[in-house]
Amino acid sequence: MCGIAGYFGEKENTDKVLISILEKLEYRGYDSAGIAIKQGKKIVFEKATGELKNLKEKLKGVEFEKGGLGIAHTRWATHGKPSVTNAHPHRQGRVYLVHNGIIENYKEIESFLKKRGYKFSTDTDTEKVAALFDYNLKQEKDSQKAFEKTLKALRGAFAIVAFVEDENQLFLARLSSPLVVGVSEKDFYIASDALALSNFSKRVIYLDDFDYALVGGFGFRHFSFKDGKQKTSKIEDFDESLTSAEKGNFDSFMLKEIYEQPDSIYSSIAGRIKNGRAVLGGLKDVEKELESAKEIHFVAAGTSFNATLAVKDLFESLGVPVFNLLASEAKYSKARVREGTVAFFISQSGETADTKEALKKYKEAGALCLGITNTVASSIARETHAGVYNHAGPEISVASTKAFSSQIAVLILIYAKIKELKLGLERKDKTLLKELQILPDILKKEIKKIDKKAKEIAKALKKANSMYTLARAGELALAFESALKIKEISYIHAEGYPSGELKHGPIALIEKDFPVLMFFGNELYEKTFSNAQEVKARGAYLISVLDKTHKDAKKISDRYFELNYIKSKANIILQSLPLQLLAYHLAKEKGLNVDKPRNLAKSVTVE
Ligand code: G6P
Repeated sequence: MCGIAGYFGEKENTDKVLISILEKLEYRGYDSAGIAIKQGKKIVFEKATGELKNLKEKLKGVEFEKGGLGIAHTRWATHGKPSVTNAHPHRQGRVYLVHNGIIENYKEIESFLKKRGYKFSTDTDTEKVAALFDYNLKQEKDSQKAFEKTLKALRGAFAIVAFVEDENQLFLARLSSPLVVGVSEKDFYIASDALALSNFSKRVIYLDDFDYALVGGFGFRHFSFKDGKQKTSKIEDFDESLTSAEKGNFDSFMLKEIYEQPDSIYSSIAGRIKNGRAVLGGLKDVEKELESAKEIHFVAAGTSFNATLAVKDLFESLGVPVFNLLASEAKYSKARVREGTVAFFISQSGETADTKEALKKYKEAGALCLGITNTVASSIARETHAGVYNHAGPEISVASTKAFSSQIAVLILIYAKIKELKLGLERKDKTLLKELQILPDILKKEIKKIDKKAKEIAKALKKANSMYTLARAGELALAFESALKIKEISYIHAEGYPSGELKHGPIALIEKDFPVLMFFGNELYEKTFSNAQEVKARGAYLISVLDKTHKDAKKISDRYFELNYIKSKANIILQSLPLQLLAYHLAKEKGLNVDKPRNLAKSVTVE
């Protein structure tokens, strides 16, 4: 977690560049922030807890010149509670350093350095890295050598940017945590992701694992700390479409992203359905393996995992076993990867540590590993054998919405591709693809009505402190996703359950006015209806997501979202609008910060 910013150059106000980059990185964490700027001999070093605005407040009145160098950081605590002391940058001796990731052997480093007279004042692993660099500077005459030696001694995951107080250069390194450098003549802009650089440079260098670099008046020098050799940097053009990450007229990124779904689904499928078939360039080279796939594994975390549950039944109809695995568990799984295992790694950010770790294990075990990510050139996109991008545009809000629907859309396309390769397309598959194509228009028509309803229902529910979200089979993913979304941003305890399991325990909690959100599907409508009657009989406050033909369910519901269901699996995307908007309005009713829920971060880059 955490966001890193850096700048070296001549033409900009260093403080403004760093703050602007941090603002775009706040989604990665926002419990504290800090900055260290060096202009000539003067160093300004400030930190503050809470959101970035607190740091900005502290910098008011400080005079800065143009140019120089600086590093900055927005934090999501891993080692040590959020506090000014634990906030980055960390300073030890001559070194100022920011870090994203986790250093596993920091205890060893700490005891090594304590014996050599170092004192530590924070609970962080990062402070030990700064001290080790400082120690190595004393041992080696050359600061590059000292940095390389430091990196070689670290175990874990890190992106690091540092400077030495009496030198005019920045030190950068990456292992399993992203770091990108924007280049503009003699100015260099550094961030944890390319999107955060969009105001400054569209030409970027992505650091790979085991890369380190020096940035200074001499330009950009690129090395590997595996073998110490110099590398040739590849400057890539950064996708312009990513620069639309502004809130516009919406009060939050979450609401903007919910409303963007007709467009994001459209971009996810654009050019990918031709003559009633799915066309996926990213999977062209692995079609043989897809045709002979014997097992399909989906590995993901959070909302991305729920997206895989939404298509489980569809993929099962291919006649092969389908496993949906939480990445944090999959990486420890002892189950054998068999010949013919095709594993999909689904991640909006492409940087989730657990998903990356599981990918490593699957790769070692010989599975064909395919990525579905929304972030171009992210770690998962680069480390999988092949894959498909979501093309949903940047998702900023911590609570994922448009990424979820675009993941389902892309997974539907992948299903259609495998179905065609394995068994040939049937009429129902063609209908599915057609319905996916008309879905953006349907969403556009329905969204305002659903939004209004969600607002009314949220008012009725705002005093609730616990609720169930229930569904069956094909809709089960919606029960889990609603519970996640509601918990994440409204802090109401919500538990997603298969409604058939009610009588095996959960029904014990149902009493007068206990809220239950129930998703009615066409397929198991009657069975779900019985469950609805069971909870109503015990006094539950029933909110239903149903089709206009579900008349009985409507009658017994206290509130309902009435939709015009479409027949195919694409319907699940339509059914997810009520849950996203309900979670949003619950948070608004409670006056909470929708985009920055407490304790959470958009991208969990630590295990
Ligand atoms: C975090 C975010 C979730 C997201 C999950 C997986 O927990 O708060 O919104 O679903 O990570 O992220 P990924 O980028 O791998 O999809």
